[in-house]
Amino acid sequence: MLRWWRIPESPAPPEDLVEHVPSGALLRDGDSILFIDRKSRQYLRTLRSGKRVTVRGAAFPADELIGLPEGTVLRGSTGEYLQIFRPTYAQLAPNLPRQAQLIYPKDVGTILLWGDIHPGARVIEVGVGPGATSIALLRAIGPTGHLTSYEIRDEFATMARENVARFHGPAPQWTIKIGDAYEGFDETDVDRMVVDLSEPWRVVPHAARALRPGGVFVGFTPTVLQLKQLVDELRAGPFAAVEILESLQRYWHVKDRSVRPEHRMVAHSGFLIIARRLALSPPTPE
Ligand SMILES: C[S@@+](CC[C@H](N)C(=O)[O-])C[C@H]1O[C@@H](n2cnc3c(N)ncnc32)[C@H](O)[C@@H]1O
Repeated sequence: MLRWWRIPESPAPPEDLVEHVPSGALLRDGDSILFIDRKSRQYLRTLRSGKRVTVRGAAFPADELIGLPEGTVLRGSTGEYLQIFRPTYAQLAPNLPRQAQLIYPKDVGTILLWGDIHPGARVIEVGVGPGATSIALLRAIGPTGHLTSYEIRDEFATMARENVARFHGPAPQWTIKIGDAYEGFDETDVDRMVVDLSEPWRVVPHAARALRPGGVFVGFTPTVLQLKQLVDELRAGPFAAVEILESLQRYWHVKDRSVRPEHRMVAHSGFLIIARRLALSPPTPE
């Protein structure tokens, strides 16, 4: 394996650029690493001491990668250059092992802000799938929050647990409950709820019981019919300030004089429905 500090055709950095590599930038045993080739294709691999990592036909001994800084450029036995980084959330999610569809990072980003998911929040997530949204919620609530995720299928919960352990790390502030969310939740006084399953309107009466006054409900639905039924149910229940939106994200191609939007984009993923839980009655005087 050859190790390069830059891809040969890229210009040299300024001579006065001095690099300090903090220990946090060094790759460690057990890290998940993204290899990026010259066509920007991504390959997610895990570094395990004593093992080899194979990418596009080139094998790299993990022990030679452990200790390198993120951002190193490698040249494998096939002559191809590959950049290596720990993945960001947006790079990780599309590469996550999965059995069910996940919410794209563009929508997860909106869910976190419009859903006002903050450090210390008590959150219920409905429909865990591969755990992509769980990872984002755990990062946002931090160690002082609590996330309870309801999932009906045992095997999906198992995969989500594996993904969270591997790509997020220990999560003592996370509880997965195997059960049918249409039958209700055990929790009350919840701050925020994120719902991603096929009949979200059936969760609304239970959300009204679980959320505290002022709590935020966020639903994600791929189709207009689901969206309409969910919005009608929210407006019929103790919810207000309903907002319905979708998030469109278009990548751009920038090379030489060709500066334009990419020809292809994810034109549709789903709609986001955000609502606030109303207070039902004034507080009882002490
Ligand atoms: C689209 S996936 C969720 C993906 C997840 N939001 C993510 O980004 O990784 C929907 C999940 O809801 C689960 N589900 C479906 N009906 C359910 C129910 N009644 N109660 C609990 N979970 C349910 C499915 O098994 C599936 O795992």
